[in-house]
Amino acid sequence: MFLTILMRTFFNPWLIFLLVSLLSGCNHDKKETFHIGFSQCASDVWREKMNEEMKMTAALYPDVELTILNAGENNRRQELQIRELINQGVDLLIISPNESDPLTPIATEAYTAGIPTILIDRKINSEDYTAFIGADNYQIGKDVAVYLANIHGGKGRILEIRGMEGSSPARERHQGFTEGLKPFKEMKIVRSMDGKWLPGIARDVARQAFLEDSFDIVFGHNDVMARSAREVAEMLNIDTLFVVGIDALPELGMELVEEDVLQASFVYPTGGRRAIEVARAILHDEPYQKQNILGTSVVDHSNVKVLRLQLEQVMAFQEILDAQTTRIREQTQRFQDQRSLLRVAFISLSLLVVFAVWLTWYYVMLNKRNRQLAVKNRAIEKQKAELERRNEQIRAMNEEVEKATQAKLSFFTNISHEIRTPLTLIQAPVSEMLGQISENRHKEGFKENLVMVQQNTERLLRLINQLMDFRKVELGKLSLNISKANLKEIANNIFKAFQPLARQKDIRFNFECTAPHCMVWMDVDKIDKVLFNLLSNAFKFTPRAGSILLKVNCQETDEVVIEISDTGPGIPPEKQAQIFQPFYQQQKHRSMGTGIGLTLSRGFMELHKGTIEVISDGQNGTTFKVKLPKGLDHFSTDQVISEPRERTSTSFIENQPRKPAEISPLPKTTARPSLLIVEDDAQLKQYLIRLLEKQYFIKSAGNGKEALQIIELEQPDLVLTDLMMPEMDGSQLTTHLKSHLETSHLPVIMLTAKVSPEQKIEGIETGADAYIEKPFNPDYLKVRIRKIIEMREKLRAYHRQKWNMPGAVPPHAEASSLDQRFLRKMHAILESNHARTEFSVEELSEQIGLSRVHLYRKVKALTTLTPSDYINKFRLHKSLALLEEQGGNISGVSMDVGFSSPAYFTKKFREEFGKTPSEYLNRET
Ligand code: FRU
Repeated sequence: MFLTILMRTFFNPWLIFLLVSLLSGCNHDKKETFHIGFSQCASDVWREKMNEEMKMTAALYPDVELTILNAGENNRRQELQIRELINQGVDLLIISPNESDPLTPIATEAYTAGIPTILIDRKINSEDYTAFIGADNYQIGKDVAVYLANIHGGKGRILEIRGMEGSSPARERHQGFTEGLKPFKEMKIVRSMDGKWLPGIARDVARQAFLEDSFDIVFGHNDVMARSAREVAEMLNIDTLFVVGIDALPELGMELVEEDVLQASFVYPTGGRRAIEVARAILHDEPYQKQNILGTSVVDHSNVKVLRLQLEQVMAFQEILDAQTTRIREQTQRFQDQRSLLRVAFISLSLLVVFAVWLTWYYVMLNKRNRQLAVKNRAIEKQKAELERRNEQIRAMNEEVEKATQAKLSFFTNISHEIRTPLTLIQAPVSEMLGQISENRHKEGFKENLVMVQQNTERLLRLINQLMDFRKVELGKLSLNISKANLKEIANNIFKAFQPLARQKDIRFNFECTAPHCMVWMDVDKIDKVLFNLLSNAFKFTPRAGSILLKVNCQETDEVVIEISDTGPGIPPEKQAQIFQPFYQQQKHRSMGTGIGLTLSRGFMELHKGTIEVISDGQNGTTFKVKLPKGLDHFSTDQVISEPRERTSTSFIENQPRKPAEISPLPKTTARPSLLIVEDDAQLKQYLIRLLEKQYFIKSAGNGKEALQIIELEQPDLVLTDLMMPEMDGSQLTTHLKSHLETSHLPVIMLTAKVSPEQKIEGIETGADAYIEKPFNPDYLKVRIRKIIEMREKLRAYHRQKWNMPGAVPPHAEASSLDQRFLRKMHAILESNHARTEFSVEELSEQIGLSRVHLYRKVKALTTLTPSDYINKFRLHKSLALLEEQGGNISGVSMDVGFSSPAYFTKKFREEFGKTPSEYLNRET
């Protein structure tokens, strides 16, 4: 975020503009640098001094850059160097031309090309130049002539050693000298010779002249040539000569005068300082003069000391001046630096201020935008919450719909179960009786069968009536038949009707009423049904040895309160609202009832302007409290009749047991196979017992859990179980049996009301061996049971007889895969242990992972043999092959198959194969 702000700040066009403006403001003040090129014609002391002066002066000006190129008295080289300077793009040219003619074209070319051109000391043959700096050489020549004439009284023989012929000072000096001598007829230039400005050439020409002529005076055009003449003269012992030179440099000419080597010299200023000043004036467009003629004066014995002194002072001043100028320049520079610094500081500060302002503005904008976003966000959040709330509603509604669908589905499943059970109990005895009639045996249990048919017809009727009542209540079309009745009597009748069931279930069942009579206006039939339903529920949920109380409180003036309390598991508070909703059933008892009983009861109570409520903490039993208003005012006149109609509900109590004597199982005989019947409907259970007790030894259980407890103690030959039961249903029981090695061999037949193909598949999946639908044909059931038991028997025989191939496990369609695995494992163990005498049943039980009891049951169930017999049988069958291999070594073979004594081996062998080992071998051979 901050980086973005920075980027934006520094790429802000407005800021960039400001920055450029400020920096360009600096550039305005910054001075331009001028490049001055100087073409020097020769190198000697005088010219060095000229160069030095120029450099020092240029150094005073920071805007001046000076380049000096030296041609070493060579015209061509000087021309090339001037061109080089032009090419470098110099702003101004200073030329001291070696000779006039050869250098005129290049000098004028530069000038006409617009480069300011200054000539110094020597001239060209053209007026095309910007300025000239130098002394008046003609005048100097004249001054020398006059000076010499004065010294020598107008007489004297003169040797003139001239400078280079082509250079302007040589020409002008000669002209001025000649002109100056004209008035003095006795002053004679005996010889005038070209010394080319150079001491060596001057020496040569002087020697030549001295040898050929005699002279009083030597005039050298410069001091170095004059000195050469003196040196030659001395060598030739000519000591009367008066020698004059030009230049009078303090450190050269003046010294020579002082030393009397020269008798006089004429000051010839170099003009270096002046040249740079004129150049700057030209470059800065300041006024300047084209002709800058420098002054000159004679230096001889009379003034040389004073002049040198003055000169030294001037130089000292000059140094001070230079130092001051340098300091001023430094100060200026410092001032400029500080000003620049100040400017940079100012720019930075301005930038900072601009940045701060911009940042503040940006922050404010950001804040504003954030606030707007926050407002939008809140709105979105609100919308989201609203959407979520609606989604939640839809989800809840979906769940409700789903629940309702599920409830309806289970309602239809339950109702079909409810109907099929009494139908079974009608159809089965009827077909049984029909069979008996055709066989003329109709005395056997004929009455019991007819009673059962009657009872179950009533049970069906009751169910149908309940459904019709429910429909009427739902549609609001149920009408009441109100009459005045004694509630105590009605309750007492119901109490009596339930007493046998209480005894059967071993439940303490009591009835209390606060008054001898309790007359209430009501629809007797409906109240009877309400009490019947509540008591039926109490009996369903109250375990054995529990208690149920029916209490009628008639003492209140406005209402009668009926309470039915039980010691069942109770109803959790969160479930209490649901139990009055249609199709609701408590999970634990899903096989019980239609799930509309309580809905119907509440509907009946509402019609009576009464209430029905449940009181339970979900742990210690349940109390249903029914309140019935007294009086008649809350009923309409068309609801009231004088006499109550006959009641229907108490005429038959479901699950009413038959005579106790008939329940007890018959004594076990070894001949009969045993059957375990698992059925929660008492009447159906009793019917099944009665149907099968002649062929089988019967045990019975009310649900899967009880069945498992019985199987743990004693295993039956077959389990016949209902599918829908409380606690543990038939499919859970089958799954349990088939997935435990201890019980996986038990055949299971499932009885059920469920009929859809999916439900059938579900039943078979659990591993049930047969699946019989209700209502069933009793003969079919009997045959199915018999066939399965016979099949088991055949299999066991098969196992017993399959001993000619020990170790092979027969393919066995009926045995569960768990059983097949068990047999394979047992054979593998026997295969590797049969030779060990000490191998025992204990060890087998340990290796196979079953207790001795369970191993016994399992091996017995699958093979009819005890484990011990099975081991012996295995050993004996193994011995057959060994006997043949070992050719009659009976005691050896008996040891090899784990028998401790050959005699015992022989005994067992005869039992198994009907002959002794020797007989067996003889037969073989
Ligand atoms: C130096 C010099 C001086 C003389 C001048 C004339 O090269 O010879 O001695 O005065 O040149 O241009």
